[in-house]
Amino acid sequence: MRTLRFILAEYKANLRWFVIGISALIIGALAQTVAPIYIKLAVDAASPEGFVSEEGLAGRIALATMMTAPERSERFVLVCLGMVALTALIVALATFYKRYYLVRISRRTEYTLKKRMYARLQDMPARWYDHTRSGGVMSLMTSDIEAVRMMIGPAVMYIGGTVIMFPASLAIMLSLNWMLTLLALIPLVGLSAATIWFNPRVRKYSLRSQEDLEQLSARAQENFAGARVVKAFSREDFEIAELQRLGDTYLENKLGQARNQALFQACIWGFSGVGVLIILYFGAIEVSAGRSSVGDMAAFMLYNLGLYWPMIALGWVTMLFVRASASLKRIDAMTEVASDPSRLAGGLKPTSLRGEVEFQDVSLRYSDDAPPALVDVNFHVAPGRTLGIVGQVGSGKSTIANLLLRLLAPTSGRVLIDGMPIEQLDAHVLRGFMGYVPQDSFLFSDTIANNIALALPADDAGRDAAVRKAAQAAEFEAEVLTLPQGYDTMLGERGVNLSGGQKQRAAIARALAAKPTILVLDDCLSAVDTDTEERILRNLKAETRDITTIIISQRISGVSHADEIIVLDQGRVAQRGSDAELRAGGGLYAELARRQELAAELAHE
Ligand SMILES: Nc1ncnc2c1ncn2[C@@H]1O[C@H](COP(=O)(O)OP(=O)(O)OP(=O)(O)O)[C@@H](O)[C@H]1O
Ligand SMILES: [Mg+2]
Repeated sequence: MRTLRFILAEYKANLRWFVIGISALIIGALAQTVAPIYIKLAVDAASPEGFVSEEGLAGRIALATMMTAPERSERFVLVCLGMVALTALIVALATFYKRYYLVRISRRTEYTLKKRMYARLQDMPARWYDHTRSGGVMSLMTSDIEAVRMMIGPAVMYIGGTVIMFPASLAIMLSLNWMLTLLALIPLVGLSAATIWFNPRVRKYSLRSQEDLEQLSARAQENFAGARVVKAFSREDFEIAELQRLGDTYLENKLGQARNQALFQACIWGFSGVGVLIILYFGAIEVSAGRSSVGDMAAFMLYNLGLYWPMIALGWVTMLFVRASASLKRIDAMTEVASDPSRLAGGLKPTSLRGEVEFQDVSLRYSDDAPPALVDVNFHVAPGRTLGIVGQVGSGKSTIANLLLRLLAPTSGRVLIDGMPIEQLDAHVLRGFMGYVPQDSFLFSDTIANNIALALPADDAGRDAAVRKAAQAAEFEAEVLTLPQGYDTMLGERGVNLSGGQKQRAAIARALAAKPTILVLDDCLSAVDTDTEERILRNLKAETRDITTIIISQRISGVSHADEIIVLDQGRVAQRGSDAELRAGGGLYAELARRQELAAELAHE
């Protein structure tokens, strides 16, 4: 039902093309159906014992279209041949318009669906990405949309043709010789049985192999992305075996599909062969009894094939329809996920922010059955000040960063920016004021310059200068300049791969280049040595004098310069104060500081 509604909506949206395409389809199918009549008339007019009749449906069609009464003459044979040529021309033209416009609609559907899905992909709530496999999304964007396209275009094209040709052919055949028609239909019963037997089997194997293929590509893609891990843990053999297993079932199902299809094809040819024999045998009897003409037999032979084609098309189209329905369901499921609330338009759009940040009793649970990631977190950062957040792994530091960017919403409590609840601010405007360095610095396969300038408008005249200044502050420029193409070096995919520390510094430069009012640094110095860390922190201090900075670190050295530091322990603020106060106060911070300094000393020896 939903599938039908979808198809109708697509045709309605492209009504002009649909009308052209369907008109061409109808005209073409009718021309194709009447063509054998002229062949029959030509044969009868040329053969000595043939008779030319003006009665019956065939005769009436002939009279109506030929503007000359059937007669036994050379001239009439030529007129018939002219009509055959004319119908061939009409069929040719109609085929072009039918295919072009119906396919055009289907390509249009594919285009809009893809566009909508891409937009949707950007619009999913941050949590959705946590539990969605990229392989699944890939197959949604490719094979599912393809299945829908096949249904909108080719499937309707074939079924439309047969819906017209089957009854029209049958009517003409019956008018020529009803006995012969009924006899010629006998093999069709067998073919119907074959269709009913083979189609569900072909469909079953086809759907299964489709699923196998999805799993296979998802697995292969993950393997490729995680190739280093696979190698490092010597899991190659296991992964190869796993891929092989998936490949084996895929092959098995594909072979099952091919076997059933081949058998079905064999049935089609077998039964249509029987049809030909019946027409020849009984046709000969009818001709010699004077109840039929040789021309009738010629027409029957042509119509015979026309009767089989609809059966084949019907099976194929049902399969396309079933596949497309399943695909539409998956597409709908993605469409139905609630939009990222922060992307919903609207909200306050301040033109400037002072950069005051406040958490009021913020608690957050990722899911109902998970322990809370944050519990009653309170802090206040005045504009231009720096807040340090330390804590052990899993203590909730990144969760705070995500809350500040509205990538998450608190379960209870409030996050305030300049005294305004964060959810009242337009998310785009808010993020425009923020600089963010995520914990796992992600870079695009683009040039270094473009990666750093990500947040800058493309036509920004001071873009290059801003990129360089930011790279300098991130202590990244010296290394960039050693690369042969400098800032124009391509990263990732087919470009240079940066080290972990270099990536982190590129990400810091990216955040700084945006000249943010609030800067959030999530453990972004974990992969650089302590000397570089110190230099970057010094630069940052100079660069971010007026910028409210939230700096997250597992290392005490990363936060010790902050105006205030909070220590997180299992989602709770365990301690707060300045570096000096916290060291003096004992507890978790002093313990962490002591341990990390000891480790550093050991490393230096
Ligand atoms: N997307 C998520 N879905 C479910 N649980 C999550 C998710 N992200 C984090 N958690 C859980 O929330 C808790 C806090 O995670 P968070 O990432 O904030 O820790 P963190 O302090 O940043 O740790 P690290 O120092 O390792 O980066 C952890 O117990 C973690 O398992
Ligand atoms: Mg983290």
